[in-house]
Amino acid sequence: MSFTLNSRFLRNVMRRGKMPDSNSQISIDPLTPHIGAEVSNFQIAEPMDQSRFGQIHAALMTHQVLFFRNQEMTLDQQKDFARQFGELHIHPGIPGPEGHPEVIAIHTDENSTRIAGEDWHTDVSCDAAPPLGSILHMHTVPKTGGDTLFASMYAAYEALSEPMQTMLGGLTARHSGEMAYRGRYAYRGVDDADLVYPNNDHPVVRTHPVTKRKSLYVNRIFTEAINGLTPTESDALLQFLYLHISKPEFQVRFRWQPGSVAFWDNRAVQHYAIWDYFPQTRSGYRVTVAGDPPY
Ligand code: SIN
Repeated sequence: MSFTLNSRFLRNVMRRGKMPDSNSQISIDPLTPHIGAEVSNFQIAEPMDQSRFGQIHAALMTHQVLFFRNQEMTLDQQKDFARQFGELHIHPGIPGPEGHPEVIAIHTDENSTRIAGEDWHTDVSCDAAPPLGSILHMHTVPKTGGDTLFASMYAAYEALSEPMQTMLGGLTARHSGEMAYRGRYAYRGVDDADLVYPNNDHPVVRTHPVTKRKSLYVNRIFTEAINGLTPTESDALLQFLYLHISKPEFQVRFRWQPGSVAFWDNRAVQHYAIWDYFPQTRSGYRVTVAGDPPY
């Protein structure tokens, strides 16, 4: 466990005159029976000892997406927190801000013609080893709107009949970076003519490497086709799964405030950024933790 002292932390210590109390209990309040919990008594910018890391990690494994309020942090502090969970992921199509290739700016304003993540997906599932998780810190939010939906793919899988689970368990699907990304970031000034995007096959039902629970792993943004089926069969099955996955029973909806953070487990969750707030501004930074090949 790395224990990083940084200038912001030292400033906080000087202001409060004490070290953060590593024994103070973090509060974890579940938001729905299947997915989502709000975390309080925890500052992401402060160094984390083993006990607090264990509590956050355990909560993420149980609730799949964690929400934090009133968080102030620099990009370096956000990256330091993310690194406790694994190596940082670099996006294949979106360059980071100067000096921070591992960061994605999430920004929409009156000049925007589209946004990132405006459909159900799990991040960068076209990678051979798609991200473990993503940590989004929002600093500017619209007066109303701009919520993000998260859906538990454990709950979606577990709600299927046994024959359907068995059939899906033998299938793989093609996840295409080409389909998802080609030309998509022109609005951010990205010319991708020379970029080669990843395309990879993954199981339709994946097993979480920590919890060992099974979840559905196809999504609207990246999944091109289910392998071995005719195009008609593949389209029909994907449409059925997308309809099933989007049931409100599997979801939690997060209302952002300035300083809010969402930390989601891409191995168990899909999310959907709602763009209902044009022409207002919504702005933040995402840091993504690298993962392993799904099995
Ligand atoms: C994303 O990471 O897909 C964007 C999520 C959001 O803007 O709420």
